[in-house]
Amino acid sequence: MKLAVLTGAGISAESGVPTFRGQGGLWKSYRPEDLATPQAFRRNPALVWEWYLWRRSVIAKAEPNAGHIALVELEKKYCEDFLLITQNVDGLHQRAGSKRLVELHGNIWRVKCLSCGAVYYDYSVSYAQLPPACKECGGHIRPDVVWFGEALPEDALELAIGWARSCDVFVVIGTSAVVYPAGELPYLAKEHGAKVIEINPESTPVSPIADVIIREPASSGVKKLLEVL
Ligand code: OAD
Repeated sequence: MKLAVLTGAGISAESGVPTFRGQGGLWKSYRPEDLATPQAFRRNPALVWEWYLWRRSVIAKAEPNAGHIALVELEKKYCEDFLLITQNVDGLHQRAGSKRLVELHGNIWRVKCLSCGAVYYDYSVSYAQLPPACKECGGHIRPDVVWFGEALPEDALELAIGWARSCDVFVVIGTSAVVYPAGELPYLAKEHGAKVIEINPESTPVSPIADVIIREPASSGVKKLLEVL
């Protein structure tokens, strides 16, 4: 049996990392067009960096929770028949030990140089100057994440689409599934014959097509999933 799992911000909520929508969601206090678009970065790179550095500092203090850890167990059980697809940029899946993982929206701990194109990991939570300078060429760097209006990394998206089309079970955890193309993957999986399982304390647009719904937080929900799969 081939198993694909899609995660969103909800899986990291119990680690203390805020989600984007819903109660306490980041988009309740901030406007995405001010902070998470290429235009916003061009207009005010220092402001955008300040926001990302604040998020980095929150994530740096967070630990993977039982949900992240149960997914590592699931990966060990299914080996090559398992793929974790995440919209999260926080790196908590990797810290928990997930290996068969594809990041659709980049990684907050990676930077990209706007001058020379260098891409590298950088775990700073503050910089002497904003925007910070590239360690290779001194040009300006930006967070290597996908902003609204930008294309997803092609390889990552292709892999995710391939798995959605070919898996037997597609599990959707902690995502509002309203941001495309990631939000489209559960429908694609369903169309291609997969059983869809949703783990989320709230109803989402995926709920009507789900074959099984676990209305619980990720920490207890993924443990239950591990018992039955
Ligand atoms: P959202 O903030 O849109 O949705 C979070 C989901 O997690 C909601 O459906 C909640 O009900 C659910 N949730 C909350 N607590 C949970 C818990 N303890 N266990 C399980 N689920 C829980 O986050 P995403 O769907 O990930 O993109 O958002 C998608 C994209 O929109 C993000 O990657 C980001 C954002 O704007 C970009 O920045 C490009």
